[in-house]
Amino acid sequence: MILIFLGPPGSGKGTQAKRLTAEKSWPQLSTGDMLRANIAQGTELGIAAKKMMDQGNLVPDAVVVGMIRERIKNSDCLKGFILDGFPRTISQAESLDQMLSEKGLRVDRVIEFQIQDGELVGRLSGRRTCSSCATMYHVKTSPPKVDGVCDKCGNPVIQRADDNVEVIEKRLKVYHAQTSPLIQYYSQQGKLLPIDATKAMDQVYSRVVASLPKRSFFGQFLSRAFAR
Ligand code: AP5
Repeated sequence: MILIFLGPPGSGKGTQAKRLTAEKSWPQLSTGDMLRANIAQGTELGIAAKKMMDQGNLVPDAVVVGMIRERIKNSDCLKGFILDGFPRTISQAESLDQMLSEKGLRVDRVIEFQIQDGELVGRLSGRRTCSSCATMYHVKTSPPKVDGVCDKCGNPVIQRADDNVEVIEKRLKVYHAQTSPLIQYYSQQGKLLPIDATKAMDQVYSRVVASLPKRSFFGQFLSRAFAR
C-alpha cells in the first residue's frame, strides 16, 4: 500500500501516520523528520535546510526527492509505505509518479486532512516533541506527566524551532500557495479522499482506516509477480 497524507502543518498527518505504522507495519516516511535528523547530525544538507525550515520555507525539490528516492530502496518499504509531508509541490508529485512507475508501482490513495487555518495555530504552538523517540505531546490537550520529560523514554521534550506563531503563519501561506494545488492533481487521478481532521484523534484514525482501498495496486503487483 502506498499512501500519501496530505494536509496543512498541524493537521495531524504525523500523529495518524505513526498510529497506522504501528498497526500495519508500513513505515512512515516523513521528509520533515528526515531533514530534522540531518540537522541533529550537523550534515551539510541539514545546515542548509535549517535556515529554510526555520523561516517556514520549503527546501528545494531536488533535495527531498533525492531523500525519498533513497529511502524507498530500503527493504522495510517492500510492503508499502506512508508518505507524510511529501510530495509538497507539483514538481515533487511528478517526480514521485516517475520514480514509482520505474518500479511498476503507483500511489494507491491520498488522504487529505481538512481543517481551517484558525485551528492549526493553537495545535502547533502547543506541540511538544520528545527529542529522542519523537513521541508527541500538546501542552494543553496531552501534556507529559512530568513537565518537559518524555513519558515513554525519559528524555527531554522540546518545542520545534518552526512552531512559533510567526513561522506557523508563514508555513500556512506556503501550504496554500505551493502544496494545495496537489489536491486537484490527485483528485484528477481519482486518488484523493478528504477527511475531517478537526475530529478527535481516535475518530480521525477510524476515518483514515476506512479510507484505505480494499486492495492496493502494490498488492496486486506482488500477487501477479508471485503468480508468474
Ligand atoms: P514537517 O515536519 O513535514 O511539518 P508540517 O507539514 O508542517 O507538519 P507538522 O509536522 O507540523 O504537522 P502534522 O500534520 O504532522 O501534525 P501533527 O500530527 O504533528 O515539515 C517541516 C519543514 O520541513 C517544512 O516547513 C519544510 O521547510 C521542510 N519540508 C518537509 N517536507 C518537505 C518537502 N516535501 N518539501 C520541501 N520542504 C519540506 O499534530 C500537530 C499537533 O496537533 C500535535 O500537538 C498533536 O498532538 C495535535 N493533534 C493532532 N491531531 C489532533 C486532533 N485530531 N485533535 C487535536 N489535536 C491533534
